[in-house]
Amino acid sequence: MSALTIDVDAVRKHFPALQRAAVGGEPAVFLDGPGGTQVPSSVIRAISDYLSGSNANIEGEFATSASTDELIAQARSYGATFVGGSSDGISFGPNMTTLNFNLIRALGRTLKPGDEIITTVLDHDANVAPWLLMAADRGLVVRQVGVTEDLNLDLEDLKAKLNDRTKVVAFCLASNAVGTLTPAVEVSRLAHEVGALVWADAVAYAPHRRIDVEALGCDVLLCSPYKFFGPHLGMSWLKTDLAETLPAERVRPAGSKPPGHRFETGTQLHENIAGFAAAVDYLASLGEGDNLRSRLDSAYGAIERRETELAQQLISALSDVPNVRVTGVPGAEPSQRVGTFGLIVQGESPALLSRALGAKGIYTWNGNFYAQGIVEHLGLDLEEGLLRLGLMHYNTGAEIHRCVEELRLHLAAA
Ligand SMILES: Cc1ncc(COP(=O)(O)O)c(C=O)c1O
Repeated sequence: MSALTIDVDAVRKHFPALQRAAVGGEPAVFLDGPGGTQVPSSVIRAISDYLSGSNANIEGEFATSASTDELIAQARSYGATFVGGSSDGISFGPNMTTLNFNLIRALGRTLKPGDEIITTVLDHDANVAPWLLMAADRGLVVRQVGVTEDLNLDLEDLKAKLNDRTKVVAFCLASNAVGTLTPAVEVSRLAHEVGALVWADAVAYAPHRRIDVEALGCDVLLCSPYKFFGPHLGMSWLKTDLAETLPAERVRPAGSKPPGHRFETGTQLHENIAGFAAAVDYLASLGEGDNLRSRLDSAYGAIERRETELAQQLISALSDVPNVRVTGVPGAEPSQRVGTFGLIVQGESPALLSRALGAKGIYTWNGNFYAQGIVEHLGLDLEEGLLRLGLMHYNTGAEIHRCVEELRLHLAAA
């Protein structure tokens, strides 16, 4: 049986933004995905349909409120299938950062002075700063695991930092700045050996690889639907016992069923929760199978294959552009990296490069992307940071070619 592929022309027709004209009538090239992906029409329609047909608050005795309750229950079930865990532990919130601050504050109330937390150099600050702040409040110790020369997580350093006081290992499944995939199964095994919780940031992983909290060994996992073709929203998953017992900060009349709801403060972004479910359906539509789980499994297989081809094309195209260094894992080996590339261009400001590309209709990101640890590790100015090119399954070889040629022309003229 041949492996399922992605029909990119068909896929691109679903995304109104990809049809958008930019400079000189040429369509824009969206290589800005790690900052937030584009959204298919089905997601836009789901948001609009919710607002025009079911807009209400929860738990009322009338039809639109009942549909809202159903929608949220269904979205929790979708969230559970999306991460491979139980729907009891799914919570929605405005974004990953806000959810993580709240969850970490809740866990902090159970920790004692001297307890230790491990974070990593690869992490976005949303999975570092909340631990540092909580540690300062409660007298905890935070240790940071480093990286190898290729910007892989340094497992030897992790082993050296784990001990019987370690309560949490907080790490990202993929780096949002340089694309490294971390060895999550091994990290989880080591963390659990000393009785620590595994606290995974899947924000930069979710658009590229299938999440499976059971196989990865996570106790807590967070992601952001706006990074995987949905609307601006955050989602977290906790193991059911944690969801039931962590001392959540909440208003007194708020319900506690299902357990994930304990971490949802105030009225939720219902229309975006509708958009999230539609984004999961969009992803599943790229796969085949007779249920949501198997369609997502096969869709992510196809996404991984397509993105790996694109990553190979980008690496090869960049290889003869003078003065450009691709940081991190060399090559496009799909078990080692996703197609997020942090570039250092000798003597050039990432902001000016990104602006020059932007003027040609090629959208990239520059800066530190809040991945402070890795930008500092690379010895870069924190404000300047990197030029980041992010590949999604909807990108094309022609777009990569256009970007690299514009970069080459700009550098030749500089
Ligand atoms: C790896 C990673 N973690 C966390 C975040 C924060 O996510 P949010 O914007 O949903 O708070 C981001 C955002 O870019 C990210 O890339």
